[in-house]
Amino acid sequence: MEKRSELYRGKAKTVFTTDNPERLILQFRNDTSAFDGEKVEQLDRKGMVNNKFNNFIMAKLEAAGIPTQLDQVLSDTETLVKKLTMIPVECVVRNFAAGSLVRRLGVTEGQALNPPTFELFLKNDSLHDPMINDSHVVSFGWATAEQLAQMKALTLRVNDVLSKLFDAGGMMLVDFKLEFGVDADGTIVLGDEFSPDGCRLWDKETRKKLDKDRFRQGLGGVVEAYEEVAARIGVPL
Ligand code: TMP
Ligand code: ASP
Repeated sequence: MEKRSELYRGKAKTVFTTDNPERLILQFRNDTSAFDGEKVEQLDRKGMVNNKFNNFIMAKLEAAGIPTQLDQVLSDTETLVKKLTMIPVECVVRNFAAGSLVRRLGVTEGQALNPPTFELFLKNDSLHDPMINDSHVVSFGWATAEQLAQMKALTLRVNDVLSKLFDAGGMMLVDFKLEFGVDADGTIVLGDEFSPDGCRLWDKETRKKLDKDRFRQGLGGVVEAYEEVAARIGVPL
């Protein structure tokens, strides 16, 4: 597999083309960003930890029948993935209230949500990822109603699989964000990444935050917390 040119540089990952038009390389960098790119820092080991974390989670999801873009791990920080046409919509599931939900609705942080909520956000940093609804997605042509239904069903299945996985490691999966794309066959496939950068995880007993809120809130020990999560669920680092 030959790495070719840089296709896109995101806030935490760079995407490269390869000699295979159906494959891309994701390179996980140490850059850590919050507040839609307003706060950015380099955190030692984060690229490596998130690459390995993401590959472990994607393999678990594949085993549970969820199509993912994972193909092959290439190095500590690089992974070969299927090329997808990404849908610019973020799917968020919440099992407990936190973050923007608490700010928006004035509810208590940690309140259990039964059933879990499902929300959509437009992926657009300059607009601060505004919340959108199903009709926006379809009317603006970001996805069809069928694709959206598939994204929602897959996101809720991911929640079932991962809530159990983190629970077994003594953690609460508070909320998370997924992004999907369409592959060459027209199938909806899970893309981007799943790592502590894009979810909230709390220790079940102490409710200690073990995710990117440590960075957003300046709590310190960010990568150390990611490594603790990895160790608790058996991700080999
Ligand atoms: P929120 O509380 O800020 O709306 O975020 C909900 C969850 O989704 C939280 O785990 C962070 C994640 N998320 C991202 O990782 N990136 C984003 O752009 C958004 C909107 C949410
Ligand atoms: N969207 C991610 C976050 O909420 C990254 C960023 O905002 O820069 O932290």
